[in-house]
Amino acid sequence: MKLRPGGFSADRVLRRFLPRTLFGRSLLIVLIPLVLLQAVALLLFYGNHLNELSRRLAGGVAGEVGFMIDEIDRAPDTRGLIIQETDRYFQFSTVFLRNQVLRRLPPPDAPGPVDDDLARGLAQNLHRPFNVAWNTTPGFIRINVQMADGVLSIDVSRKRLYIGTFYLFLIWVIGTAGLLFGISALFLRTQVRGITRLAVAAEAFGMGRDPGPIKPEGAVEVRRAAAAFNRMQERLRRFLAQRTTMLAGVSHDLRTPLTRLRLSLAMLPEADAGEMAEMTGDIEEMEQLIATYLSFARGEGSEQAVPTDVTGLLEDVAAAARRAGARIDCDAPEGLSATLRPEAMRRVLTNLIDNARRHAGQMWLGAAMSGRTLRIVIEDDGPGIPASQREAVFRPFETASAGGTGLGLAIARDIVGAHGGDIFLLDRPGGGLRVVIELPA
Ligand SMILES: Nc1ncnc2c1ncn2[C@@H]1O[C@H](COP(=O)(O)OP(=O)(O)OP(=O)(O)O)[C@@H](O)[C@H]1O
Ligand SMILES: [Mg+2]
Repeated sequence: MKLRPGGFSADRVLRRFLPRTLFGRSLLIVLIPLVLLQAVALLLFYGNHLNELSRRLAGGVAGEVGFMIDEIDRAPDTRGLIIQETDRYFQFSTVFLRNQVLRRLPPPDAPGPVDDDLARGLAQNLHRPFNVAWNTTPGFIRINVQMADGVLSIDVSRKRLYIGTFYLFLIWVIGTAGLLFGISALFLRTQVRGITRLAVAAEAFGMGRDPGPIKPEGAVEVRRAAAAFNRMQERLRRFLAQRTTMLAGVSHDLRTPLTRLRLSLAMLPEADAGEMAEMTGDIEEMEQLIATYLSFARGEGSEQAVPTDVTGLLEDVAAAARRAGARIDCDAPEGLSATLRPEAMRRVLTNLIDNARRHAGQMWLGAAMSGRTLRIVIEDDGPGIPASQREAVFRPFETASAGGTGLGLAIARDIVGAHGGDIFLLDRPGGGLRVVIELPA
C-alpha cells in the first residue's frame, strides 16, 4: 500500500507529540475527553448564557440612561434634581459639562459583546448623539450624551454590565481536570508498574539472570500475564535442570565401564601393540568427550549471572593460554564490567582460543563497550572458516577438527545466547578468523 504523503507526515507528527509510555498515553486517554467535554459545555452553555446575560444587563443600563435623558428633556429646569435622584437610584455618577461638545473618542481597546450590546441599547433608547468611553476611569465606563447646552457625562460601574463568574467557571474546569489527573495518575501507576515489572523480569530472564517470581499486581490481565510468566520461568528452570541432570548422569555412568575397559586393555597380553594403542586412543577420546559433557552439564545448571570484571577475565584466559604455549595478545580497556556467568563465559573464551590455537599461530583478544553492548573479539591468523561453513560449524558434532569433538562452537553459542547475546564469525582483514561476541551489559 502506498502511503499518502499527507497521512504519513500527520502520523509522524502525532507520534512525535504523543507520550511514549503507557502511563502517559493512558493519562491522555482519560484527560482528552474530559477537557473536550468541559470545553463543549463551556461553549454551548456558558457562551449562550453569557451573551444573553450581557444583553439584558446592557439593556437595563441603556434603559435607565434613556429614562434619565427623557426626564431632563421634559423638565430641563430640574436637571440638577433629576441627576441627583438617578445617581442615587441607579448608582450613576453624573456631571453636566455646560457648553461642551461631544468629542470623538478612540475606539475601545478590546471591543466585546458587551460594548456592542450597550451601544445598541443606547441607540435604541437615546435620540441624541452619544459615545461610550471604556477606559477613562478604572472600574467604570463613561457614557457621554450631547444635550442642547452641553454634555452629560455619566459614569456607570462596570459591575453593572459584567458578571464576574467566568473565572470561577475556568477555575472549575482547570480544577476538575487537575483533580482527575491526580486520581488517574495514582491508579494508573499501579497498573503500569505491573507491566513494567513484567518487562524488566522477562528481559533479565532472557539474559540468563534469575529475576525470581514476580508479584502479580494491577488489573486481572496484567496479573494473569505475571502469573503466566512465573509459571513459564519455573517450567523452563525445571526443564533445564532435568536436561542437565540427565546429561550429567549419562556421562558419569559411562565413565565407569570406560575405565574398566581401559584397565582390561592394559592387562591383555601384548598381542598386537599397534591395535592396542589405537584402542587406548579411542578410549581416551571417549573420556575426553565425557569430560566435556560433564563440565558443560555442571556449569550450565547452577551458575548465576553476577557483575564481572571482564578485563580481568580476559587477561586470566589469555594468561592461561600463554602458559599452555599459545601466542596471544590481549587488549582490553581497564575496568570493563558486565553482568554475566563468569565460569560459562570463561568456557566460551577457552573454547574459542583452543580453536584458534589448533588452526593458527598468533591470536588477538580484545573487548570494548559500545553503548550498552559489550563486544569481545577473538582473532587469529589461520585459514579462517569459509562463509558457506559458518552455520554448520555451530551445529554439534557436524564439523569437528582432528582431535576435537565438534562441540566447542555449539557450546559457545548456547552460552552466549543464554546471556541474551549473539556470536558471529567473520573474516579477519589480512586473513584468519574473527569471532565477535556481543553481550548486553
Ligand atoms: N579459528 C578457527 N579457524 C579455522 N577453523 C576453525 C576455527 N575455529 C573452529 N574452526 C572449525 O570449526 C569447526 C567447529 O569447531 P568446534 O570448536 O565447534 O569443534 P572442535 O574444535 O572440532 O571440537 P571441540 O571444540 O569440541 O574440541 C571445526 O571443524 C573447526 O575446524
Ligand atoms: Mg573447538
